Amino acid sequence: MDPLEAIKGRRSIRKYRPDPVPEKALQAVVEAVRWAPSWANTQCCEVIVVKDAKVKSELATALLPNTNPALSSMTEAPLVLVLCGIKGISGYSKGQPATEKGDWLMFDTGLAMQNLCLAAHALGLGTVIVGRMDHQRVAEILGVPQNIEVVAITPLGYPAAEGGSPKRKDISQVVYYEKYGGMKKV
Ligand SMILES: Cc1cc2nc3c(=O)[nH]c(=O)nc-3n(C[C@H](O)[C@H](O)[C@H](O)COP(=O)(O)O)c2cc1C
Repeated sequence: MDPLEAIKGRRSIRKYRPDPVPEKALQAVVEAVRWAPSWANTQCCEVIVVKDAKVKSELATALLPNTNPALSSMTEAPLVLVLCGIKGISGYSKGQPATEKGDWLMFDTGLAMQNLCLAAHALGLGTVIVGRMDHQRVAEILGVPQNIEVVAITPLGYPAAEGGSPKRKDISQVVYYEKYGGMKKV
């Protein structure tokens, strides 16, 4: 699939078929995480693949009930992938934060998640990034150690329904020229 087509065509998928994800497709998706860019190639991002129905149900309890539209997808989809970041390496130089922004693990994990979502979409698989949850609870369920931050989850499987197409801002509200708020010269 053409990358630009993939970027525009990917949608958050919240309804899944139970069909299993072929191992080859799963490996392609996790490879996309591995090849994501990262601060000084520090590669802080890690992914936990969850297939066990009992563990998926437990993870669903970490999403706030009635407030997260992705709740049912956690148990519907055959797989759930949990993205984590190793703390204290992305954005650091000689053990000290290299910028006033501190740890860049959220940024690097975000890049990896987008790679994951686009690779999945190119293979006909659906994803939805889930950030609204009890991260501590997820860490407990999966035995994630203290030095690792749980960042976001996505179900992975074949879509049972297309995602809606939430509108985007007009390009003029997003892109400026020469200075903040600057308009394009015609
Ligand atoms: C950091 C982040 C966290 C998100 N958390 C959730 C979530 O907890 N539940 C959910 O249903 N969607 C979540 N989403 C999906 C967004 O709602 C979705 O990307 C947005 O509405 C645009 O729709 P699209 O992905 O189909 O283009 C999240 C997206 C991002 C980037």
